[in-house]
Amino acid sequence: MPEDLLGKIKDKYAELGENPKPYIEGLLHSKPITYWDYVEVDTLLSLQKPKTHFKDESVFIMYHQVTELVLKMMIHEAQQLVFETNVSLEVFKDKIKRLTRYTDMLITSFSVMKDGMNYDDYNQFRLSLTPASGFQSAQFRFLEIYCTPLINLIPKDKRNFLPDNPVVTDYFKLIYWRAAGYDPHTESKSLTLSLFEDKYLKTFIALAEETKGKTLFEKYLSYHTNDEELIKLLKDFDHAYNVKWPMTHLNTAKHYLDKKGENKDATGGSEWKKYLHPKHQGRLFFPNLWEENSILKHDTLV
Ligand code: HEM
Repeated sequence: MPEDLLGKIKDKYAELGENPKPYIEGLLHSKPITYWDYVEVDTLLSLQKPKTHFKDESVFIMYHQVTELVLKMMIHEAQQLVFETNVSLEVFKDKIKRLTRYTDMLITSFSVMKDGMNYDDYNQFRLSLTPASGFQSAQFRFLEIYCTPLINLIPKDKRNFLPDNPVVTDYFKLIYWRAAGYDPHTESKSLTLSLFEDKYLKTFIALAEETKGKTLFEKYLSYHTNDEELIKLLKDFDHAYNVKWPMTHLNTAKHYLDKKGENKDATGGSEWKKYLHPKHQGRLFFPNLWEENSILKHDTLV
């Protein structure tokens, strides 16, 4: 072993105020690291628990789990941009590219859902999952909170219902996703929505307080630049996450629930054909980059 390496190890423990000797001796007895322990393979592979006997339910569960892991990777990147100070423009751009790359993974792989399950089996096992819905994916909502100020998550026609000087809880009463389960006329909520809000609303509110003024949208503005590459990267991400993925997802829902105009009920009970359409939601993370929100009028939205 080179002398300087031993010296560096000694310095490391000296800085911690520790005697390096037992640490170095401990290396004599430590077991080699294995792939299965490091990646926690056994734990990961023990997490699939189908509720029915249909084989493709496992495909459905595993693909949702893959999606949740990818969303975690995205949140991991977004968190660094939001909470770290003095992020260089170069790093900011690199991480926006990562966010788009991960979203592209979700878009291109979605055929696992659309074409990779038996149509009749899916339409049976999905009924056993009522009232659960992908709608209840909290990571999907966390990511939005990291990406853009809450005002951008409120449909334009509802913004005038906000009080003067709104607080975070006021925004969450009008946030676009409540439309999936809240009926303003009867002031009642679907079970899917009320279970979701009971579990997560407080955490969403706390995160929105923490990210106030620091979202990706606000970080981008803080560079005070018209850098064309940056603007293109942000638009690419907005387009992928808020238009392409929702359309891929909606077309899958149509494939299973609306073949030959059957219009089956969704497990989460929303008016899904309307609710899921990007034009209806009007959700954009960087709306100022789009002329008159032109992206939401795009021809690809079919
Ligand atoms: C066969 C596959 C799928 C179908 C037919 C489907 C269908 C639906 C429907 C109808 C809704 C509307 C809410 C409701 O009433 O339930 C919904 C919402 C949602 N689903 Fe899926 N889904 C599928 C797969 C997935 C996957 C793999 C994910 C990944 C986690 C996912 C995530 C979501 C999310 C995040 C929402 C809420 C979207 C929003 O609020 O904009 N879905 N899904």
